[in-house]
Amino acid sequence: MKNPLHNELDLSSYWMPFTGNRAFKNEPRLMKSAQGLYYTTVDDRQIMDGMSGLWCCNAGHCHPHIVEAIRQAAGALDYSPAFQMGHPEIFRLAERLANMMPDGMDAVFFTNSGSESVDTALKIALGYHHARGEAQRTRLVGRQRGYHGSGFGGTSVGGIGNNRTAAGPMLPGVLHLPETYDAEHQAFSKGQPSWGAHLANDLERIIASNHASSIAAVIVEPFAGSGGVLVPPVGYLERLREITEAHGILLIFDEVITAFGRLGWGSAAERLGVVPDIMCTAKGLTSGTVPMGAVVVQEKIREAFMTGPPAAIEFFHGYTYSGHPLATAAAHASLDVYENEGLFEHVRGLEASWEAGLHALANKPHVIDVRNIGLAGAVELRPRDGAPTQRAMAVYREAFDRGLLVRATADIVALAPPLVINETEIDHMLGILGDVLDDID
Ligand SMILES: Cc1ncc(COP(=O)(O)O)c(C=O)c1O
Repeated sequence: MKNPLHNELDLSSYWMPFTGNRAFKNEPRLMKSAQGLYYTTVDDRQIMDGMSGLWCCNAGHCHPHIVEAIRQAAGALDYSPAFQMGHPEIFRLAERLANMMPDGMDAVFFTNSGSESVDTALKIALGYHHARGEAQRTRLVGRQRGYHGSGFGGTSVGGIGNNRTAAGPMLPGVLHLPETYDAEHQAFSKGQPSWGAHLANDLERIIASNHASSIAAVIVEPFAGSGGVLVPPVGYLERLREITEAHGILLIFDEVITAFGRLGWGSAAERLGVVPDIMCTAKGLTSGTVPMGAVVVQEKIREAFMTGPPAAIEFFHGYTYSGHPLATAAAHASLDVYENEGLFEHVRGLEASWEAGLHALANKPHVIDVRNIGLAGAVELRPRDGAPTQRAMAVYREAFDRGLLVRATADIVALAPPLVINETEIDHMLGILGDVLDDID
């Protein structure tokens, strides 16, 4: 797209996140508004949102109920100090989230992003062991190809090379499980691959060589989103749960993408029947409208912090904007929409046709894998010789030019549309992607 604002808009000062800044500024993609499933660009083109923004706008864009809730909140209580003070709606929101999450996950700590949720969860895990007299449990275990945000904690437990290479030594004592993906055994699996549960046993190897008593927590995404929609093999998460439980190691699910309907349920934990000790959320909590995250914690873990004199601060951690009134209003309204419009059930109803539509792309040129779970999916492409990532990036750009927003990561094209999408719209979306795949070399 030629920048239609090039005379008046200087693109130089803004250092854009996770972006090829120089390439973008040569060929900017600028949005001016959004409604439902569609963005409108500054040159008035309609772009179907195949990615819920960045895995977050689950209720679709500018949903009137959410917009109105934010408007009202902005005029009623702009800010309330987060420390030693609160406002009623944040307590109601915590209760609502506790009710939505699996039994026992009853304590909710608010943050402003997925990255902050992850760093908070890691500190809760360390603090929990400390409070119980096991302060030597400091090691954290992540997973190759995992993404846990951009904080130093999340970068440390994350397993995507480019994010870590220039970040220095990061947190000490972090270990990584192997990734769950294996093309040879899993390519073109529909939903959860049947092969690969045994990969969780690598945790036993880590335990054997480091001793369980040094390990605080294991953190994984139920399915790895940013790493390229890597779906957990049947039995894998169950096995991780068994091993962590047997060794007093906390299991953290990073549900920043998977909570709030992406898999057709309030959480992946509920969908997959594996309950972690700590869950990180953000994104869909406010349908991407106002930044907010929440860490949902087993009551027994919070309880371990409740020691010392009654006036003592139990956990020296928090953010100025924890439980911000605007975000709180946005979260309540988003949860209302999910409930009132039955969006989680809607996703469950769509999953079979979503899967069929995606897998119909299997025979398109360059496609070496198609993966799906819930209302998320990925098409992996054979990299161009000597130019990895460029083929998926070409698909991304061409799809955008033809009116569809997808996400390119390595040579993987990821899709995760707003939960409000219907079957006709899915056909339209996958039709555009199919045509682009036909035409890209
Ligand atoms: C699983 C996971 N954790 C953490 C994050 C970081 O969230 P944020 O960008 O809101 O900090 C993301 C973002 O994509 C994510 O997918």
